[in-house]
Amino acid sequence: VNGVPSPLSAKVVGSFAYLTIRDRLPTILTKVIDTIHRTKNTFFEEYGEEGIQAEKQTISLLSKLRNEVQTDKPLLALTDDLQDTETWNQYMQRHQGLQGDQGSVSWFKSAWLYVECYMYRRIQEAVWLNPPIRDFDVFNEGKTQSFFESQQAVMALCTHLEEINKSMEQLSRSQLLDNFNTLLLVSLWGNKCDLSISAGQENSQKTSPLDSLSSLQPFILVDDSNMVWSTLISAQRPGQSGVRVDIVLDNAGFELVSDLVLADFLVSSGLAREIHFHGKSFPWFVSDVTVKDFHWTIQQTMAANHKWMSKSGFQWKSYMKEGVWSYHDHPFWTQPHEFCDMAADASDLYTRLQGADLVLFKGDLNYRKLTGDRYWDYTVSFDTALRGFGPAPLCSLRTLKANIQVGLQPGQGEKLTSQDPDWMTNGKYAVIQFHSPKSE
Ligand code: F6P
Ligand code: MG
Repeated sequence: VNGVPSPLSAKVVGSFAYLTIRDRLPTILTKVIDTIHRTKNTFFEEYGEEGIQAEKQTISLLSKLRNEVQTDKPLLALTDDLQDTETWNQYMQRHQGLQGDQGSVSWFKSAWLYVECYMYRRIQEAVWLNPPIRDFDVFNEGKTQSFFESQQAVMALCTHLEEINKSMEQLSRSQLLDNFNTLLLVSLWGNKCDLSISAGQENSQKTSPLDSLSSLQPFILVDDSNMVWSTLISAQRPGQSGVRVDIVLDNAGFELVSDLVLADFLVSSGLAREIHFHGKSFPWFVSDVTVKDFHWTIQQTMAANHKWMSKSGFQWKSYMKEGVWSYHDHPFWTQPHEFCDMAADASDLYTRLQGADLVLFKGDLNYRKLTGDRYWDYTVSFDTALRGFGPAPLCSLRTLKANIQVGLQPGQGEKLTSQDPDWMTNGKYAVIQFHSPKSE
């Protein structure tokens, strides 16, 4: 398309995309295979001979997949019968068309975003084709472990939330704003803890994030938090208590807790009356939240042997019960599309998001999809990179883990490169980047 840069791809040898496909994806697949193998005795054998066969069969499909990645084989059409199978196969045709005479769509030659998403869908296929283990989440172990390893940080955060909630009535407008900013930052930095960048290695929040917020401030490259706040304030309507905020979730573990705490504050302060959470419909990018993770996390928080943590858990449970909070999934979130395609390719979801007063997009993968995962110049505006996507005022809360960043000041990107060559992928930097469809 005219003027739109090409997508990041592993065909750039040595790039982060290249290293991801060469090293990280095979490592993730090896871990998945190992997990299935180790879980054999406790899970699959319950199903007798059929379970043992399913385990073997799944492992063999996954080993084959790993080999396809490593030898840059063409992507294959999906053979299962899930709700989204047809869409995936059509998407492959679309990409095949884009490749023109450059051969077939393959791991190292095509768009990184597409092939990386496709890998997770192929894992889902391997599991789904073997009925006794259909519901098995190959990443569950890592997710629960990372939740437990973050216990101290979760307790500190829930205690902080309790203190705010206790004094809520007495807070001045500026104190309310301070608390909002703090919890927005905790949710932002919570995005450091994903298990995809670490290829499944432990990556949890060990210490209270509240203590390090001010020292992290210089690492925020774009900070539009004032616009997020003014959107929340100006959307308030007389006679109606609060607005609707949607949170497009990213990772389970500490990050999810940090999102729930922010959502709790938005409701208890009266800023929001309703929160819609959006999660994934199957295990995705190692640590992303599925419906099971979502409920499990609330359950675990309730059951914690810590007064304020369990109080928070009970509050969250009742928000869910009362419908103040709700969880939604949609197949589009586990497809490889750029978000500018959402209006055409998932119009029901686009319409649903239009009902929000503010949409928060958590994490790196959502940022890649917002901007199409393309080689944009650093100074191109976020509005331009969104290419018309804008169902509602939106904000990306993202730590940088891919070679894409827009909306920087002239010279800012070059300066960062000279100071810290890996600034785009080492997860140390972050953005709070806002866009409002009205401002165009
Ligand atoms: O390769 C690292 C990576 O998998 C990126 O591809 C991806 O964007 C990111 O990690 C996942 O990060 P997040 O959980 O923040 O979306
Ligand atoms: Mg993630």
